[in-house]
Amino acid sequence: MRVLGIETSCDETAVAIVTDERVIEANIILSQLDEHSPYGGVVPEIAARAHLDHIDGLVERALEETRQHWNDINAIAATCGPGLIGGVMVGMMTAKALALALNKPFLPVNHLEGHALTARLTDDVQFPYLLLLASGGHTQIILVEGVGRYTELGSTIDDAAGEAFDKSAKLLGLGYPGGPLIDTLAQTGDRDLAQHYDLPRPLKGREGCDFSFAGLKTAVSKWAKDCTTDENKAALALALHYAISDVVKDRLDNALKMVDVPVKTLVVAGGVAANSFLRDSLSDFVHLNGLQFIAPPLSLCTDNAAMIAWAGLEGYRSGRRGTLDFKARPRWPLSEIEGT
Ligand code: KG4
Ligand code: ZN
Repeated sequence: MRVLGIETSCDETAVAIVTDERVIEANIILSQLDEHSPYGGVVPEIAARAHLDHIDGLVERALEETRQHWNDINAIAATCGPGLIGGVMVGMMTAKALALALNKPFLPVNHLEGHALTARLTDDVQFPYLLLLASGGHTQIILVEGVGRYTELGSTIDDAAGEAFDKSAKLLGLGYPGGPLIDTLAQTGDRDLAQHYDLPRPLKGREGCDFSFAGLKTAVSKWAKDCTTDENKAALALALHYAISDVVKDRLDNALKMVDVPVKTLVVAGGVAANSFLRDSLSDFVHLNGLQFIAPPLSLCTDNAAMIAWAGLEGYRSGRRGTLDFKARPRWPLSEIEGT
């Protein structure tokens, strides 16, 4: 089976072609960074218009790159939520129109499920596994027991981890999006100097697996005022990484205690999973807990359409069927995925 996937839920217009043998035949991602960076964040209206401008061209390019014809494609998948509704509608309507015109199945995909199942595409990970999903809009720990079988063990009660990185980067005068920039800056940070910045560890030591990052951002804003040199900024960036990694490990520790199925693997997904410090500290964590650690390649951690094609394919294989009257959902928790 070969699926064409479309992703337009945020600021990447993406199209991919993926097969049931876990081969990514095309994976095109067009970032809208330049359009949004003057505003310091994603502007929904601009995003939707940019998706509309580019989506047709990217679909054609995917077919050309793989030298395929529509006859070679068996189904069309698209992100139908959660996300910025204008953008989601562009991708979803494109997929519906193609499915209708070509008489092929339309596969509505939950963006979070795309992230959740990426490790099965890249590493053929077997169920059950523990998933840390950390992106610009979400921070969750999920027990994944099968396609469509997701139990949320904890999530953020305020900001997402990506927001904590992005907002802190902004406070340090870095560009947009701040996550990758603050990651790079922290690598030059002095460890001893970083200890000087006493940042909180929100919810650490408490029961459950929830996260809270809003207080961290406030603490960074206080310290950032004193950071006038590059050295100080790098140390504060490093201190933020220590704080976030600490909290994440504490929450994962609780998650392992909460689950009553034999979990052997920890999977990370979402844009923040690209963070080099987090990856390193999670490698230590899994080692201590005797787990296997799967972190998909960076390009498949951030938003892409290969994960959408794959999630569509997995859903289809498990018996899920989409209909053309499917409605886009700006909010769509993983626990509300139906039809499996
Ligand atoms: O999954 P994603 O591409 O889009 C969403 O669905 O949100 O995640 C984007 C988020 C942004 O907040 C971005 O700053 C963050 O992931 N991010 C990073 C890194 N690379 C991307 N955060 C920290 N370190 C990174 N290296
Ligand atoms: Zn995402």
